[in-house]
Amino acid sequence: MTHSIIKDLSARYTTKQYDPSKRISAENIEIIKEAIRLSASSINSQPWKFILIESDEAKNRLDATFVNKYQPNRHHAKEASHIILFAHNPNYQRDDHKKVLDINVALGRLKEEKYDAALNGALHFADLLRDEQGSNATWTKAQTYIALGNALHTLARLGIDSTPMEGIDSELIGEVFTDELNGYVCHVALAMGYHADAEDFNFGLPKSRLATEEVFTVI
Ligand SMILES: Cc1cc2nc3c(=O)[nH]c(=O)nc-3n(C[C@H](O)[C@H](O)[C@H](O)COP(=O)(O)O)c2cc1C
Repeated sequence: MTHSIIKDLSARYTTKQYDPSKRISAENIEIIKEAIRLSASSINSQPWKFILIESDEAKNRLDATFVNKYQPNRHHAKEASHIILFAHNPNYQRDDHKKVLDINVALGRLKEEKYDAALNGALHFADLLRDEQGSNATWTKAQTYIALGNALHTLARLGIDSTPMEGIDSELIGEVFTDELNGYVCHVALAMGYHADAEDFNFGLPKSRLATEEVFTVI
């Protein structure tokens, strides 16, 4: 297939070694941020925070979170140009959804008189997704993966390399980035930058995917 979407998605791959001397431009960082912000989410909940790690100081803090586990991912903390922590709200509730609806009112998408019904409907939905402990984190976490997928495609379009990482220590990240996370939880991160030509064993390998007939049922 020659479509540009397919070319982008075939060319992107998980980078295993970054060239620390290569930085993503400020202009591209703004595009990446905006693409992620525009991601879709269930009931437009946007139950996420994205911590963009850019400074050496922040990279050193991230590096320290690999002290106990997931060492193979550790070197990206200092070698990638930027890393994004994708964090979710573990308890999406009334005030969170009010923020969304207030924007809808300001934009003229929602009339004041329909506000309460919209809020109650959304909260009912969010409550249905709570587990036995009362947490709706499974649902909110799922939303961060939509943003992650969107980021992967955006980066592919921009010709920027990336590494999605679930191999991160969520607990330590929670401690080291307490202020920035403000109660949100990070289970997945994305390193971004440009691969080191000779040292990235993953670069140039053929794309490995299950066959279309295996994953698609057309009815
Ligand atoms: C949610 C998610 C988590 C991942 N976690 C890691 C990780 O911790 N470390 C790593 O090197 N690769 C990680 N990967 C990369 C996958 O192994 C990779 O996407 C998969 O093998 C397909 O290869 P490709 O990305 O090169 O097409 C992750 C990918 C995703 C989507």
